[in-house]
Amino acid sequence: MSKSGIFTSSLAKKYWMALTGLFLITFLVGHLLGNLQLITKTGEEGRRAFNEYAYFMGHNIFIKILAYLTYFSILAHAIIGLYLAVQNKKARPKNYAYNKPSANSSTASRNMAILGTLILIFICTHMANFWYKQKVAETVPLHILHKEITEQQQNPMTGQLMEQKIGINYVLTTKGDYMPKSYTDPNTGKDVELMDVKEGTHLYDKKAELQVGEGYRDLHTVVMNFFGQSQQGQPTNDLALWAVILYVISMFVLMFHLWHGFASSFQSLGLNHIRYNGFINILGKIFSIVVPLLFAIIPVMIYLNR
Ligand code: HEM
Repeated sequence: MSKSGIFTSSLAKKYWMALTGLFLITFLVGHLLGNLQLITKTGEEGRRAFNEYAYFMGHNIFIKILAYLTYFSILAHAIIGLYLAVQNKKARPKNYAYNKPSANSSTASRNMAILGTLILIFICTHMANFWYKQKVAETVPLHILHKEITEQQQNPMTGQLMEQKIGINYVLTTKGDYMPKSYTDPNTGKDVELMDVKEGTHLYDKKAELQVGEGYRDLHTVVMNFFGQSQQGQPTNDLALWAVILYVISMFVLMFHLWHGFASSFQSLGLNHIRYNGFINILGKIFSIVVPLLFAIIPVMIYLNR
């Protein structure tokens, strides 16, 4: 194969489709395991675990390289796939009497380009809702824990002890501790800030103007609110039910795409042997049902537990 042939021949294109497809399959497993925390861990512990996980995913150099490989694979897989689909359509004889596609290919395999395009649309809207807010727009709020404490104070006039409720907002820092960020003055009812926040997450002591730590972003609350659970004073998504329905439909589409794509990628790479083909086929079918099903359960469970 010539130097340019490793990118341009149609065999090479099938190789690239298979390689990027298999890489995206491994991405799906990792992404699923991370996101399952949204329903397996609850309360403040669950929120903390997910936000710490999201921070780690955005700051670990090895994970960052994997993330760029993921973006590259999505783009390459989509562009080459659409190109091959157009080429196939051009090469196919039109409406011959004997042209009966259902006789020699499955419905999923004949619709891979359409299914793939729908998944690409899903990924674009999905990344706009979560990834863009976290990484680009930085509109994800800080991880804040509100606590009410009761303080006893002596009335200077009568000498009697009186109880006062003070609301304190703690911010979870990347060192793992909760630092007081602001409190509600019980006399005026107003919030008094103890820290300045710069660049979205950097915490500065208000008096000393020294950086005292870095806070976590609260991506957990953003996801929960998106799928209908109102938390941490953030507005709930009025369209949450529609979001859940769209996610479930998209996971059906993903299932059909994987149904054909999983085993087919092994074949394109020449990793097929009469001994293992049966196993790869069955593994592919199980994978294409279990992974999208578990993904779909996440928004459904969040919505039902709202
Ligand atoms: C239904 C359950 C899902 C949930 C709750 C979910 C949640 C998230 C969240 C919160 C992020 C942002 C992470 C960050 O920026 O740190 C994200 C990123 C992403 N998601 Fe999902 N996701 C789900 C399903 C999927 C599926 C099925 C796909 C692919 C078909 C997908 C593809 C992606 C991609 C490509 C990114 C960007 C990854 C990166 O920057 O490394 N997600 N997802």
